[in-house]
Amino acid sequence: SSDVMYFVSLMQTESPDYELIIIITAHRSSSCIWCSKVCGFIFLLVFIMASYVLSSERKTQLFTPYLIEEDLSEDALRDVVRSIATKVKFRARRVPDVSELIILEEHMFSVAPRRFLPDVKNPCWFEELRGDVSADPYGSNLFGRSFRQIQLIFEQLSGSFTQRLTRHDGRLQRLRCLPYFYIIGQPKCGTTDLYERLRLHPDVRLTPPKEPHWWSRKRFGIIHSGERPQTRFPLDHYLDLFDPVALQIQQSLLGNSSSNIITGEASASTMWDNDAWLYLYGNSTGAEPPSLVQDFIHALQPDTRLIAILRDPVERLYSDYLYFGTANKSALDFHQKVCESLRMFEGCLRDAGLRACVYNSTLNKAMSVRLQVGLYVVFVLDWLSVFSRDQLLVLRLEDHALNPRPSMSRIFRFLSLGALSDQRQRQISKSPVSNPRRASDRDLGPMRPATRELLTLFYSPFSQRLAEVLQDESFTWDL
Ligand SMILES: *[C@@H]1O[C@H](CO)[C@@H](O)[C@H](O)[C@H]1NC(C)=O
Ligand SMILES: *[C@@H]1O[C@H](CO)[C@@H](O)[C@H](O)[C@H]1NC(C)=O
Ligand SMILES: *[C@@H]1O[C@H](CO)[C@@H](O)[C@H](O)[C@H]1NC(C)=O
Ligand SMILES: *[C@@H]1O[C@H](CO)[C@@H](O)[C@H](O)[C@H]1NC(C)=O
Repeated sequence: SSDVMYFVSLMQTESPDYELIIIITAHRSSSCIWCSKVCGFIFLLVFIMASYVLSSERKTQLFTPYLIEEDLSEDALRDVVRSIATKVKFRARRVPDVSELIILEEHMFSVAPRRFLPDVKNPCWFEELRGDVSADPYGSNLFGRSFRQIQLIFEQLSGSFTQRLTRHDGRLQRLRCLPYFYIIGQPKCGTTDLYERLRLHPDVRLTPPKEPHWWSRKRFGIIHSGERPQTRFPLDHYLDLFDPVALQIQQSLLGNSSSNIITGEASASTMWDNDAWLYLYGNSTGAEPPSLVQDFIHALQPDTRLIAILRDPVERLYSDYLYFGTANKSALDFHQKVCESLRMFEGCLRDAGLRACVYNSTLNKAMSVRLQVGLYVVFVLDWLSVFSRDQLLVLRLEDHALNPRPSMSRIFRFLSLGALSDQRQRQISKSPVSNPRRASDRDLGPMRPATRELLTLFYSPFSQRLAEVLQDESFTWDL
């Protein structure tokens, strides 16, 4: 034929699959000698344009018919995730000395004794009353000021406050208690359901709020995650939350019966959220937080018991997004946020170690999905750097959701709680699931297969290691 075909192919950029095929056809007229020059000119023009477009911007709209944009970005993202995998190194952390912690939290250590009443199962002690006894003891409590429900509890308590005081060596004292156990995490993994079922055990007394977030946030004056710190909540304000339980324990002590009552709390940020350290220590301390939440809990309560409930981290992230996300929720929006966050995380790992990135508040704030929360093994190892393995019970939501009875029995044994009647056991396992996914979020359907694939690749080395640490293959979630 008389057609001239210029075929420009396989112009490749950094990305291996990024290829562009430009086909130019032109008619050649035998009588027109200019034509080939014109065609040559057009070819040159297109070539220059193409190389310009290719070198400047990946997401070009100009040649969309030839580009399947999503496949391209996914391939590039698989490389991002593979690059992360090469940088995953689990290193032991430096555990701070108690003397370092006391310097940081002088007040905390002055309020709490590190020895508790021997005849009481829950950690409690008598605190000498200072100051004006007739003043409302809860009037200045910052929890009461911020949360109406807690204020109402305090109003009830303050009425009987002076009657609760006991006298010892001529001094007035009150009974104070800390939690016997902590449900430390993770968000969207069933902590609310555990908490609500535990409440049904006759020896367990839980008072609102379920999640005081004191250790990880309020202690630094952070009211809501991600906000700047305001007035710091002192330990006394946290202890006030357990006064209703202290009152019951005091009553059983007066009745000469030994008290088996225990209390606990379930702030789902305790396990992982150390974002406040940036505000506290600035950037002068190097890449990693010099102390973590667990160091302080351990210093005060070396014998405490910790419960973590975890789930497939891929599902957790989507659930977290649906629950905490606001506008424009969709599977596509989730996919884009995951891609963006994976790139950020990889960027951090280029210059810093794994722990530095997992606890990097700036990075965590910048990522639009909370990728770091699913890196369970990093947190588990850091909790085990101060607590012994038998103080930490780790459960899976998948098992608990299938049948809550065995998981609740494990918790009761772990907390040395007495055996239950069959009827009570049935009541606990039959009670409805607390805090399930909202109906409006269920309508959004599952995440995209491509998102799942990327996240599975991302979380898999972490879950493999978690299964090793916990010596339980089910914690790989078959990722
Ligand atoms: C508790 O025991 C003490 C000494 O054993 C006794 O004096 C007291 O009356 C008892 N209190 C009650 C409420 O039974
Ligand atoms: C560290 O903090 C100082 C003063 O607070 C600030 O000027 C500096 O930019 C910070 N550096 C980084 C890397 O954030
Ligand atoms: C934390 O992340 C930010 C944003 O990604 C980065 O600029 C900073 O260098 C990181 N800091 C450390 C200690 O890795
Ligand atoms: C949601 O989408 C609308 C329209 O596309 C946009 O104007 C808005 O900024 C988006 N909101 C968020 C939080 O992304």
